[in-house]
Amino acid sequence: MQNIVIKGGARLTGEVRVSGSKNAALPILASSLLASGRSVYRNVPALGDVRTMHKLLGELGAEVETKTEPKAGGITFVDTSKVENVEAPYDLVKTMRASVVVLGPLTARHGRARVSLPGGCAIGARPIDQHLKGLAAMGAKIELEHGYVTARARRLQGATIVFDMVTVTGTENLMMAAALAKGHTTLENSAREPEVEELARVLNKMGARIQGAGTSQITIEGVDELQPIEHTIIPDRIEAGTLLVAAAITRGNVLVRDCLPEHLDAVVAKLRAAGVEITPEDGGLRARAKGDLKSTDISTQPFPGFPTDMQAQFMVLMTRAKGQSLLTETIFENRFMHVPELQRMGADIQVEGRTVAVRGPVRLTGAEVMATDLRASASLVLAGLIADGTTKIRRVYHLDRGYDRLDKKLRALGADVRRTRGPM
Ligand code: EPZ
Repeated sequence: MQNIVIKGGARLTGEVRVSGSKNAALPILASSLLASGRSVYRNVPALGDVRTMHKLLGELGAEVETKTEPKAGGITFVDTSKVENVEAPYDLVKTMRASVVVLGPLTARHGRARVSLPGGCAIGARPIDQHLKGLAAMGAKIELEHGYVTARARRLQGATIVFDMVTVTGTENLMMAAALAKGHTTLENSAREPEVEELARVLNKMGARIQGAGTSQITIEGVDELQPIEHTIIPDRIEAGTLLVAAAITRGNVLVRDCLPEHLDAVVAKLRAAGVEITPEDGGLRARAKGDLKSTDISTQPFPGFPTDMQAQFMVLMTRAKGQSLLTETIFENRFMHVPELQRMGADIQVEGRTVAVRGPVRLTGAEVMATDLRASASLVLAGLIADGTTKIRRVYHLDRGYDRLDKKLRALGADVRRTRGPM
């Protein structure tokens, strides 16, 4: 089992390139199931969840090949012409709940899908009732048995679906299902995340007729057939946000290249409010420390609000800010698993229901800590960068699920970070 060991204190400087987006790549890879033939995806990030999606597509009968081109990220070739199996097994779904995004495409294209129910995860119960409600509204027969959900429909029918809450993969699953349904579908209260917009771009390239992605009302005119395509995936806005915080927290000066500033407005606004200088430059964003950090409150919201996937990273930054910051998590009911580990490093953090109060500035000290989920592990890496002494992070497989060689990128910016082998 790998650990990450960090000696704190280095000031990060230089340039770093952002990899392709995990949360765009996963539904885009699943969308290949909507067409028969060979699709080519570029700028695919090299991370655990993408490898799981490759395995799942292979399990369904697709031929998946990967290649890496220097400076262009990964390339994935997916040939779906022999897909016959429509079952997403427990062993894969339990490692990555986002596997549920094959449910819509398989039901729409093959008339049947059997997907293991994801079950709960470290950050919350995360049910998929909205996905199932939407498929049922399109005429699918839904059965839950033996831990699996089965959806059957000779052909899905267009429908009007109103989400009870904003759900990213729910919107993506139903958008893909509706692309091959008969007739017109309207998705109300849809997620507006850039990854949803990116998926709609891909589906329209395949021949779909989707409008309104990026707004809360998406309309889809179903078509009879979709074509495989070639596509280059957008950069990862959460990786970019994490790197901007790394620069700010180490009082550094870093150019984060290949990110899309318009995907980061809420994050940049809060970093500036905290006193970090963020300037657009060369198709990226430069973060430069300027003066003391100021306490800043955040409340996580669906896009374009402050992303829940940046809450843990921002919390560490606020341990260095003067005063008290209030951070409220409104999306997931259990996304403060990093707090006890940060407290073990000396952070002054009080949890009050779905809000934490962070007081600063405090000096963190290096410790042995345990990663519990993807973004929590990123926050422990950030804490290790500024802590006195050495921090050892265990269970870094959580980090590798969603970050493409983060330690290597931080080392290139001057951080003293390395991997070691060790017990669980
Ligand atoms: C996506 O998860 C992202 N994952 C998450 O990123 C991200 O945190 C989340 O959106 C919110 O932005 C991917 O895109 C692969 P939701 P998703 O459905 O789609 C409730 C990361 O760190 N809900 O938008 O699973 C749900 O429990 C990951 O990269 C229902 O109740 O999240 C949650 O409280 C973590 N019923 C809220 O809605 C449903 O049917 C939002 O969840 C669906 C959702």
